[in-house]
Amino acid sequence: VAKVRVHHLQAAKGQGKKIAMLTAYDALSAAIFDAAGVDMLLVGDSIGDNMLGHANTLPVTLDEMMPPARAVARAAKRAFVVVDLPFGSYEDSPTRAFESAVRVMKETGADAVKIEGGTRVADQVRLLTQSGIPVVGHLGFTPQSENILGGKRIQGRGDSAGQLRADALALQAAGAVAIVLEMVPAPLAGQVTAELAVPTIGIGAGAACDGQVLVWTDMAGMREWSPRFARRFAELGAALTATASEYVQAVRASQFPAPEHGYDS
Ligand code: KIV
Ligand code: NA
Repeated sequence: VAKVRVHHLQAAKGQGKKIAMLTAYDALSAAIFDAAGVDMLLVGDSIGDNMLGHANTLPVTLDEMMPPARAVARAAKRAFVVVDLPFGSYEDSPTRAFESAVRVMKETGADAVKIEGGTRVADQVRLLTQSGIPVVGHLGFTPQSENILGGKRIQGRGDSAGQLRADALALQAAGAVAIVLEMVPAPLAGQVTAELAVPTIGIGAGAACDGQVLVWTDMAGMREWSPRFARRFAELGAALTATASEYVQAVRASQFPAPEHGYDS
């Protein structure tokens, strides 16, 4: 299968073909999603709250992103692999963003990096793009800024819609290859999608976006809670709990292992 490249993302928008993106944090899940036809895999800093036991994405370091990014890049035969630059690794200067992104590209085999913010990171996006590193933008609710934004809140309502549109255009002008829109009113996301030449990837941003992204544990129903914008396509958390408790019962009842699971002398 041919690898998804930046021009395929652009072509998909032109042809009205929706782009399907999921997060992945390891080779096992990445291989499954790649085989299922997922177009883009995001090694999200959501690894912080989904896999590392943190309350949010803020504690995640660039060092911690490396092994999962390598694992996902190795497993992806077709999908375009995007790696989040975590909080503190790009905001203060294009130079710092460059150093962080170069590390990701050199050491992981990823296809692109993602950074949060609009106009304030346009210089970063420009330098990375000029340096040969594709950048995915991220606007609307940006989890790394949740302490400024006052929690997980919808962004771009009312007067702030104009700023979000300006941010999207600034990212595109700086070279962003796609823009994630998180928790943005559906009509605004539709308007931005129509205004931009590059694809928008929505999460809680309605059906008009050029693609959709979900955190895979939300998509699969791995945990009891999931955000309102995420559809639980399965209840794998409950299924895994039932499976593990069946195993526990079988061990306790000496029903496992059976003779066929053992070796003769
Ligand atoms: O880290 C992440 O999972 C993300 C998506 C929600 C877009 O940034
Ligand atoms: Na993220």
